[in-house]
Amino acid sequence: MLAGLSAPQRHLNCKYFYDQRGSQLFDAICEADDYYITRTELAIMDEYLEEMVEQIGRRVMLLEYGSGSSTKTRKLLAKLEQPAAYVPIDISEEHLLQAANTLRELFPDIEVLPVTADFTSEFELPRSQKEATHAAVYFPGSTIGNFPPAEAKQMLARFAKIVGSDGGLLIGFDRQKDPTTLEAAYNDSQGVTAAFNLNLLHRINRELGADFDVDAFEHRAVYFPNEGRIEMQLVSKCAQTVNVGGKDFEFSSGEHIRTEYSHKYKIEDFTALAAEAGFSLRKHWSDPKQYFAVMYFVQNAD
Ligand code: AVI
Repeated sequence: MLAGLSAPQRHLNCKYFYDQRGSQLFDAICEADDYYITRTELAIMDEYLEEMVEQIGRRVMLLEYGSGSSTKTRKLLAKLEQPAAYVPIDISEEHLLQAANTLRELFPDIEVLPVTADFTSEFELPRSQKEATHAAVYFPGSTIGNFPPAEAKQMLARFAKIVGSDGGLLIGFDRQKDPTTLEAAYNDSQGVTAAFNLNLLHRINRELGADFDVDAFEHRAVYFPNEGRIEMQLVSKCAQTVNVGGKDFEFSSGEHIRTEYSHKYKIEDFTALAAEAGFSLRKHWSDPKQYFAVMYFVQNAD
């Protein structure tokens, strides 16, 4: 945090959004009218679930990175053929364990093995009781977009290594589209995204003993078409000094902290990125407006 706040362009890593409150606010964003992403991906899943499940195959060990409430996964789990286990991985422990318990109730025959971890770091995967024939990573929600392309490629390469040959990747990402739609999604009219962004300052105050005057900052989200990404920012409304961990940070009026990138991809660019990471495209699905894409990749395909 201190390094990010001290950088010439102040920035904070978006993974810190997800404390308990942040995870709840993110769930609320997913329901917001302006945030088309979640409902579009769910609609794609509803439409093509059979095909997705067929691609994934039977007796899979399904690993989900950044599983949150595992809402979309329920659809898959209901249809997968004899899954060996489901491994949800998330940084937000309480939220993860609650979601895991709900899934156990809904799917008593599926072994649910939650892992609390920052999935950008190395961690150990659990072993399932039933033997899996292969593994597949599920990475929905356009979470891949929160990484700059070079890091996204590294993440995909890690997935390729984890699933090994015969393994697969079912991934959802947001597509490039008109800036108005994109900016509205990240500046929703109910103000949920603003609360989500500002919650980061509450969290820093609480957990790092900082003294951010949260009301003296405001949420902003801007689309940069050249980079194909939304940038979320917290803008200082006035000149002010903030103390974090015993260090003073001077903010001028209008200066911002970048809190998140959300990259939007063209189909062909994402396919090329995944290919560089060792994945071949098997099938892909989209919605009538072409807003979002879900793709199934295999490692080492012919
Ligand atoms: C989790 N991630 C894919 C969301 C996104 O759209 O980039 C996080 C988010 N940020 C603001 N609204 C939603």
